[in-house]
Amino acid sequence: MSDEASASLAPADAIREYETAAVAAIDAAADADALEAARIEFLGRKQGRLKDLQKLMGQVSKEDRPVIGKAFNEVKTRVEGLLVDRQTALSKPKTETKGIDITLPGEPPLLGRRHPITQTIDQFLQIFARFGFAAVDGPEIEDEWHNFDALNIPRSHPARDPLDNFYLETAAQTATLPDQIEPSDDEDASPILLRSQTSSVQIRVMEQTPPPVRIVSVGRVYRPDTIDATHSCMFHQIEGLMVGEDVTMASLKTVLKQFASAYFGPGTPIRFRPSFFPFTEPSVEVDMEFNGQWMEIGGAGMVDPAVFESVGYDPEQVSGFAFGLGVERFCMGRHGITDIRRLYENDVRFLRQF
Ligand code: FA5
Repeated sequence: MSDEASASLAPADAIREYETAAVAAIDAAADADALEAARIEFLGRKQGRLKDLQKLMGQVSKEDRPVIGKAFNEVKTRVEGLLVDRQTALSKPKTETKGIDITLPGEPPLLGRRHPITQTIDQFLQIFARFGFAAVDGPEIEDEWHNFDALNIPRSHPARDPLDNFYLETAAQTATLPDQIEPSDDEDASPILLRSQTSSVQIRVMEQTPPPVRIVSVGRVYRPDTIDATHSCMFHQIEGLMVGEDVTMASLKTVLKQFASAYFGPGTPIRFRPSFFPFTEPSVEVDMEFNGQWMEIGGAGMVDPAVFESVGYDPEQVSGFAFGLGVERFCMGRHGITDIRRLYENDVRFLRQF
């Protein structure tokens, strides 16, 4: 940069700095005295910042003078105008200045922020939308058909134990039911419960949609687990279901690997460990490695033919995978949160960090 150019840069910066400071001081003036002080400081004829700025104008090279001089005049005119506007606003009776003060800066105040779990859910839905998965919702109050029977979980299965679930009254006794659940007059009607897993949404979707299917569903689930650093009795899961003519275990691993890379960063390793879920065969536990540590984040597998039969799909014609991942575990891993309870205490000192 030539000497002349750098000489002309300083006055240009000074003009901008003067303008920013003057606008802030005029905006902040809460009464006539404060505004007069701002006028003397920024527009005083004998001394003050305008005078200093004028002196600086003398250093501007001949070639730059038209541009810099023009900028100086425009800023001076703007500041004078703002001063007059503020004088008018302050001189109005109080009742008239109530409401929105259009002279204030237009930045909205930061009154709050989205909860880290909400942020995680939004990120999940964005990632899966990019993979072509539509987001669907399901009810948190479920009947036994959708939470267990149709998922191939027989009556004798320990997962149905009343001690492991939050059962409610029967549908016949409950006054307000979600739209999806039919009230029943039958005294022996199936019990209803707070869903223990988002896998119930798989059934609801397949009952209503012919294949192919490619959905995710995020929501709260409830289990009377003992609360500790990694367990809560209410937590969130994201359920995924893909059904088509050629869906394989390789498709499942590819989708989850890409999801891990999109959420935790490129190349995030994932691994499958053999497991058992009544509604998938084969079944796996899914782990992801983050910061050098393996985290168990959910279960997955190929949809069991018995599940397809219960929703009227032909298991000879279609195949599919499903997964159910714990949202809190992801959020905790990504942000280094070591105790799940922090997420529900609503301590603003904690929440402000996200
Ligand atoms: C299930 O809930 C299966 N429905 C997952 C599934 C879906 C398998 C589709 C196959 C096909 P599981 O009980 O392991 O599986 O829970 C899944 C994840 O939820 C766990 O890995 C964990 O990340 C999270 N999770 C489970 N219990 C709790 C809890 N009490 N608090 C917080 N997170 C939990």
